[in-house]
Amino acid sequence: MTRLLVAACLAAVLAVAWPCRCHAVVQRAAAPPRSLSTSSRWIVDERGRRVKLACVNWPSHLEPVLAEGLGHRPLGAIAAGVAAMGFNCVRLTWPTFLATDASYASLTVAESLRRLNLTDALAGVGANNPGVADLSLVDAFGAVVGALGASGVMVILDNHVSRSGWCCRANDGNGFFGDADFDPEVWIDGLAKMAAMFAGVGNVVGMSLRNELRGPRQNADDWYR
Ligand SMILES: *[C@@H]1O[C@H](CO)[C@@H](O)[C@H](O)[C@H]1NC(C)=O
Repeated sequence: MTRLLVAACLAAVLAVAWPCRCHAVVQRAAAPPRSLSTSSRWIVDERGRRVKLACVNWPSHLEPVLAEGLGHRPLGAIAAGVAAMGFNCVRLTWPTFLATDASYASLTVAESLRRLNLTDALAGVGANNPGVADLSLVDAFGAVVGALGASGVMVILDNHVSRSGWCCRANDGNGFFGDADFDPEVWIDGLAKMAAMFAGVGNVVGMSLRNELRGPRQNADDWYR
């Protein structure tokens, strides 16, 4: 069983990483789209110049399933600010259920915030990002990716948890294959759906497959045999 899971994991890694050999197109604010590939240990652009990823984390996996901060500043201003601070990349976190559970995917941003009684945040989103409140959570996530692309910022889609919420405790049900909210099949389905959803989006250059495997089920001993 454990071996199977490890094999499934590696297969998932390969399935997602393989296309990265690599024709992912990267949009830069001041430059036309270009492609990434690898040369030995380096990531290089289409002219063979080394590309160094300088990523900052932007959480979108907490209970509202909305990128943090949209109640405070316009999306475009945050994205431009990320670039202005010298980052060329964002590690944008997402919960599996955003892609696999219709009860998440069908919620609008407004419904999600209201459900959590986050009325001030909702008013802030209305003031700073008109239009975002009425988007579905999936579309709002896409809007964040798009705004980063418009500022020339690359995105790594980071599968952070299954059920939206703070990460990470050992017993939060999201730590390891087989935990209450971590069905490997659902996880792979979620990764595949996100990969398909963003396959044509130039500034999405990679995925991180799962944040911090942990908890009582973890099988570190199997990895060192
Ligand atoms: C939201 O507020 C209502 C009414 O006060 C309460 O019953 C409910 O538990 C609250 N929900 C959350 C997630 O705090």
